[in-house]
Amino acid sequence: MGKITLSVIKADIGGLVGHSASHPDIVATAVAALEKAKKAGLLVDFHVFTCGDDLELVMTHNHGTDADKIHKLAWDTFVAGTEVAKKLHLYGAGQDLLADAFSGNVKGMGPGVAEMTFEERKSEPVIVFAGDKCAPGAWNLPLYKMFADPFNTAGLVIDPSMHDGFKFEVLDIHRSRMIEFSCPEELYDMLVFVGSPDHFLIRAVHRKNNGDIAAVSSTQKLALIAGRYVGKDDPVCIVRCQSGLPAVGEALEPFAFPHTVSGWMRGSHMGPLMPVSLKEATPTRFDGPPRVVAVGFQVADGGLASWRDMFDDPSYDQARKTACQIGDYLRRHGPFEPHRLPFAEMEYTTMPGVMEKLEPRWKPI
Ligand code: F6R
Ligand code: MG
Ligand code: MG
Repeated sequence: MGKITLSVIKADIGGLVGHSASHPDIVATAVAALEKAKKAGLLVDFHVFTCGDDLELVMTHNHGTDADKIHKLAWDTFVAGTEVAKKLHLYGAGQDLLADAFSGNVKGMGPGVAEMTFEERKSEPVIVFAGDKCAPGAWNLPLYKMFADPFNTAGLVIDPSMHDGFKFEVLDIHRSRMIEFSCPEELYDMLVFVGSPDHFLIRAVHRKNNGDIAAVSSTQKLALIAGRYVGKDDPVCIVRCQSGLPAVGEALEPFAFPHTVSGWMRGSHMGPLMPVSLKEATPTRFDGPPRVVAVGFQVADGGLASWRDMFDDPSYDQARKTACQIGDYLRRHGPFEPHRLPFAEMEYTTMPGVMEKLEPRWKPI
């Protein structure tokens, strides 16, 4: 045991068909690249999965967060996958690789990143969440519920080691600044901001008593990086569970409520976040509705071999049904808000291009 870093780096490098899923050959290419890195001793272990058109690389290693070598490995893997996508004429080949060349860290280049370093416990249950057709703010509500809401997390009331609460790191993505909130004391202050998930993102959660990392999310917003809509941010999030942290069931419970997130169709619509099994993470209705998958690991000396598909469970059937109902209701709004994103957010889509044409026709009143 000892300190281990868990890095989840993801990108959409091409879709089958359209933006609905990834391709088995892309997964095979990624597995081969990471297997080679594991044999060479760069990785301790890895696991590859997909959510919609996104390729998710889960890697354990001893190089810490923001390590050049690991980010370069992910970048090179995405570049190799893009070659495959191009050959197969997959849709949007290399869409999230915004830079032409790797420059030391994939943050700000397009791929999404969530990483944490921790001392592996005797038993280390960890859940990697991945979303498709949704923005990074999708994690705000569930993280709030997991770590701050006693109606979700019984441990906040019952477990003496959780009773003091947790610390939240919150980003203001439009002004590139961050703030820390200590909860429960500052719950109401924090909600002023995190209740607006297209502006403020919960980046990390720490245990209050020993400062240990409990959760971390990817905070890229491709629209802001690229200046206009390019792909979805389709975020990832890592949550450590049990023994003074939310139980696995407490970490999954927030997703029994398919809350509304932005990112459906053309990154321009709101829709319910539907919790699904890996097999069902293939958004096809109006390119959605947005999906979330949860892959649980019992990390063992950095090994990732013991894993499960956590939403492959009938107890989420009702949430899926509710998501379909909310989806129907919202779809009937067509191009009207609140199905379409608020006007200010549309600034990052292709809509300003349409509006430009009409500019000369506006007359003063
Ligand atoms: C992409 C996505 C899709 C696309 C839509 C239009 O992740 O969610 O809804 O925005 O299919 O795609 P283009 O502009 O590539 O034809
Ligand atoms: Mg795509
Ligand atoms: Mg995607």
